[in-house]
Formats: sequence, structure tokens, C-alpha cells
Amino acid sequence: MKKVVMLLCMAVLLVSGISAGGQQEDDGKITVGFSQIGAESAWRVANTESIQSEAAARPNIELKFADAQQKQENQIKAIRSFIAQGVDVIAFSPVVETGFEAVLVEASEAGIPVILTDRAVDVQDESLWVTFMGSDFVEEGRRAANWLVSEGYTDVNIVELQGTVGSAPAIDRKTGFEEVMKANPGMKIIKTQSGDFTRSGGKEVMEAFLKAEGDNIDVLYAHNDDMAIGAIQAIEEYGLAPGKDIIIVSIDAVRGAFEAMIEGKLNCTVECSPLLGPQLFDAAEALMKGEELPKRIVTNEGVFPQEVAADVIDSRLY
Ligand code: AHR
Repeated sequence: MKKVVMLLCMAVLLVSGISAGGQQEDDGKITVGFSQIGAESAWRVANTESIQSEAAARPNIELKFADAQQKQENQIKAIRSFIAQGVDVIAFSPVVETGFEAVLVEASEAGIPVILTDRAVDVQDESLWVTFMGSDFVEEGRRAANWLVSEGYTDVNIVELQGTVGSAPAIDRKTGFEEVMKANPGMKIIKTQSGDFTRSGGKEVMEAFLKAEGDNIDVLYAHNDDMAIGAIQAIEEYGLAPGKDIIIVSIDAVRGAFEAMIEGKLNCTVECSPLLGPQLFDAAEALMKGEELPKRIVTNEGVFPQEVAADVIDSRLY
């Protein structure tokens, strides 16, 4: 009986592709475990789509996708599960910068290379990740501020909607923006708070800004388009004209931002491309061939003011 049970178990393991040692059989595919932050913004949804569709288009890639629903603990759990499953490559977009060192050490001890996409981590030992691909968030902050300067908005009261507290884009976009402000002392941030990169967060925090400062606000700087779009609703409900009474600059360049610009409600969006799928799997394939990767792969991006929105919207891919 014992023998029959053993044979049955072995047959089940063979069919499911798992060896008696608990490892995946080598079917020639590259297994990539990807831990996504969640679906907090249109940007994130486009990023997930880019990763999933690119994986589906490559027969040699098997993607294991996990949605962390904005929680760091879920990302850490997902990474541990990828390690236990013996994936070939782990990739993730860290929700916040700190707190990933221990799990990255575990991945390194298991010999699994880690690729960072979109956001960076803050760890002592930078050899814990192989490459970081994504935007230069500090430069995006500079571009937003430089656009205001180029339009002559240098003597203004600014309210700032920050992204998720502790996240790389929130920290860096603030840094870049403030760097330009230093050279333009007439630009003052009178209120700043996180709207967590969501439309509802942007609306709620903008309502509070308006209640406190009202007509005193000249400019809104939002760390992403979704928060700007939420804030536009708050400004209209307050009785002011977004894009006219309050000048708005935000980051991402998602379709919704172009629609708002065409309606005259948003003044400028700075591009941050979510289309990282092709780069990610190129990098995973290169790693499996033993190729060296650059430590940093920076995405090329532009700035779109309201005047060009109607001409550009049809060519946007997200
Ligand atoms: O990390 C990129 C940022 O995350 C995008 O700007 C924002 O929309 C997203 O949620």
C-alpha cells in the first residue's frame, strides 16, 4: 500500500512539474516572479499591463505575478514565496524605499538575481540588486518646477500633493522640485501633504488645502496625474477654475491628464513611462545568458504642456 501511495505521489509531482526535492523541473523557460505594488493609479495599471502582455508575448518567459495591494508586508511575502518556488529572476517595484534588506539577503543567499523596476530601494549593500530600470524621479520634479519658471510662475504660492509617504517617487520628486525653487525664492510651498498617489487621496487633501488657503493658492504641484485629476474635482466643487485660477502641473502623462489639458483644466504633465515590460524581460533574458547589465537603466521621457495635448493624445500608449 505504502508503495502504491508513493508511486501515486511521484506521478502527481511529475504531472505538476515539481521534483521530489520541491524544485521546479527545468522546462527551458525563464521563470520571473514579479511583485507589483497594486493598482493605485492609471500609471500602475498601465505598468501591470505592459509587464503581463510582454510576458505573454514571449514563449520562453513564465511570469508569476503577485499584487501587493499597496502593502510592503505583502511584497515581502511574495518575494519569500518566489524564493521558495525557486524562480530564476525576482523583479519588483518597491512600494517604499526602506525595509527590504532582509528579504533581499534571502534572495541573494538563494542565488536568485533581483531586478528593480520603476522604484529604487534604500539598502546598505547595493549588490543585493542587479539593475534598476525606470525613470529619474528627481529630474521629473525639476522638470515640473522648470516648466513653472519657463511660464513665469516664479512669484507664487504653491500647494503640493505628495505621493505615497516613504516611496522613491515622492521623495525624489519633492527633492527635484525644491532644487529649482531654491534658485527662485518667490516660489513658496504653503501646504504639502500626501494624497497616496490616488484620485480619492488627491481630492480629499485638495479640499483641505482649499479650506485652509482658498484664493491664496496660485499653483498646484501634484506628484502624479491621478491626484491632480482628483484635485481638479475639488477645485471645481470649491467654485474655482482649475488650470486658470489655479495653475496645475503634475507627473506621469497618462491619458486622463491629456483629456484634462484639452479641457483646459490641467496646464502641464511631465512624462513618467510605465511601459517597462520589454526592458524587464530583455534584462531577465540577458541575465540568464550570463550577460552583465548596467546598474541603472534610465527611461527617456518628455514634458507635455497644455498647448500640445490635442496633437499628442492619439499617439499616447497609456
Ligand atoms: O512609481 C511611479 C509612480 O507610482 C507614478 O508616478 C504613480 O502614478 C504611481 O502610482
